[in-house]
Amino acid sequence: MLLTHDIEFTLNGVTKKLTIDVTMNALDMLRDVVGLTGTKYGCGEGECGACTIRVDGETRNSCLMFAVDFDGRDIVTIEGLAADPKADALRESFVEHGAVQCGFCTPGMVMQASHILDTHPDADAATIKRGLEGNLCRCTGYKKIVDAVESACCGGR
Ligand code: FES
Ligand code: FES
Repeated sequence: MLLTHDIEFTLNGVTKKLTIDVTMNALDMLRDVVGLTGTKYGCGEGECGACTIRVDGETRNSCLMFAVDFDGRDIVTIEGLAADPKADALRESFVEHGAVQCGFCTPGMVMQASHILDTHPDADAATIKRGLEGNLCRCTGYKKIVDAVESACCGGR
C-alpha cells in the first residue's frame, strides 16, 4: 500500500503543496514531479555534488534526502539562482573563465560556489577549494572553476 504525506515548502520563493509518497527521494521529486531538471543525478550516494540544493540556506545533497524532508523548509535549486542578483557576477565569471563544463557537474558547482560567495565573500583560492571539495568533476578539472569563483569573490581581487 502506498503511504503518502502532505508537505508544504517554499521552492525558489514559491509555496508548494504536494501529497508525496513517503519513500520518494527529494532529487527524484524535484526532477520528476516538479519538473525542475537543473538539479542533476550523478552518483546517488552523496559523493559527487551534482544534486546540490540549498535547504534553509545550507547546501545539501538532495539525493540523500527524502521528499518529505522538505516539509516546512525553504528550498533553492539552480533555477532559483536565476532570480538572485548576487549570483549574476558568479554566472558571468563562470562564462568568462570557461568554467562552465559539462551539464552534470556545473549546476552543483554553481550552487556550492554561490554558497561560498554568500558566506565567504572574500574567500581565497584555498578556501574555495575546501568549499568545493564535495563537488566532483571526473574529466576536465577544477582550475577554471576555482579561478571563476575567486574572480567573483571581492569582484575579482
Ligand atoms: S547525485 Fe547526489 S551527491 Fe551525487
Ligand atoms: S564532470 Fe562535468 S566537466 Fe567533469
